[in-house]
Amino acid sequence: LVKRAFSSTSCRHTIKNVTVIGGGLMGSGIAQIAAQSGNQVTLVEVNPELLKKAETSIVTNLSRVAKKVYKDDTAAIQKYVEEAKSRIQGSTNPSTAVSDADLVVEAIVENLEVKHKLFKALDEAAPAKTLFASNTSSLSIGEIASVVNRKDRFGGLHFFNPVPVMKLLEIVKIPEQSEETYQAFLAWGKSVGKTCVTCKDTPGFIVNRLLVPYLAEAIRMLERGDASPRDIDTAMKLGAGHPMGPVELADYVGHDTTNSILEGWHKKYPDNPLFVPCDSTKELVRQKKLGVKTGEGYYKYNNLKYWLEN
Ligand code: 3HC
Repeated sequence: LVKRAFSSTSCRHTIKNVTVIGGGLMGSGIAQIAAQSGNQVTLVEVNPELLKKAETSIVTNLSRVAKKVYKDDTAAIQKYVEEAKSRIQGSTNPSTAVSDADLVVEAIVENLEVKHKLFKALDEAAPAKTLFASNTSSLSIGEIASVVNRKDRFGGLHFFNPVPVMKLLEIVKIPEQSEETYQAFLAWGKSVGKTCVTCKDTPGFIVNRLLVPYLAEAIRMLERGDASPRDIDTAMKLGAGHPMGPVELADYVGHDTTNSILEGWHKKYPDNPLFVPCDSTKELVRQKKLGVKTGEGYYKYNNLKYWLEN
């Protein structure tokens, strides 16, 4: 961990102070791994209640990581969690939170207008050294960056859920991005323990371009009544070696997320049949049955039990 924490110092732009905007599933995971790796982290949420919620989830997940390393050594587990936690401070003011940031990672709602408003304000508030990244899963990085003056210091850093466990980081390039920025992203990605892949700014980058249409096809299969959700999931786990079947994975990712990804792509590329949103998912979103995080999606969950036992 110590080696990881300082391995980013070899690049010209050293990332030590990281501001994460948005403390949802992805943002709190990104804040966690950054703190675990020795970064000073500022986590920004819209109010103290949401900050508290993010902090609780970070402590729970830090404990899982610590238990793996220190087994039954309760004192060492506690020390690890406390030390990592002490590197994270909360804020409800994005502009002051970036005043000394080397890197800002945005993980807020998937809405271009909202992201534009945020990045415009951040561009004015942050010092010139600050690199900007978006963890968007479906919007164009170039379109998000269009409102800032520092396009050479902008890119996509796309993590996967659960962030502390999934080993991949997609680094998304835009034409204006400087080589120094790219190298800094790469070094930082490695320093937080991820394997980095590089890609162009195309819809879904690499993983979601393949994964989201696959999840939608599985849902269309169950909508047609070809097989039950359980059988579709069992088939893909045992027949293709996936850790989760597509229906449970869609519940895990969240139907608000997958539905908004598909709706955005469908609007932009109406002729692509792979991007058509699913009727049953739209209905689940309407009923606020977003999957694991709300306790029900295509399956029902006892949330507390799910998180404690998994
Ligand atoms: N924080 C820390 N550790 C966690 C964790 C978390 N949030 N969730 C799970 N873990 C750890 C567990 O402690 C366990 O560690 P161990 O094996 O050393 O004991 C390990 O991960 C495996 O977890 P479990 O034994 O509880 O359960 P599983 O073996 O079923 O694994 C899973 C859970 C890692 C979620 C696995 O099912 C999986 O890989 N599923 C697929 C997830 C996936 O595809 N994610 C990508 C979604 S797409 C996306 O995020 C992009 C976005 O833009 C939409």
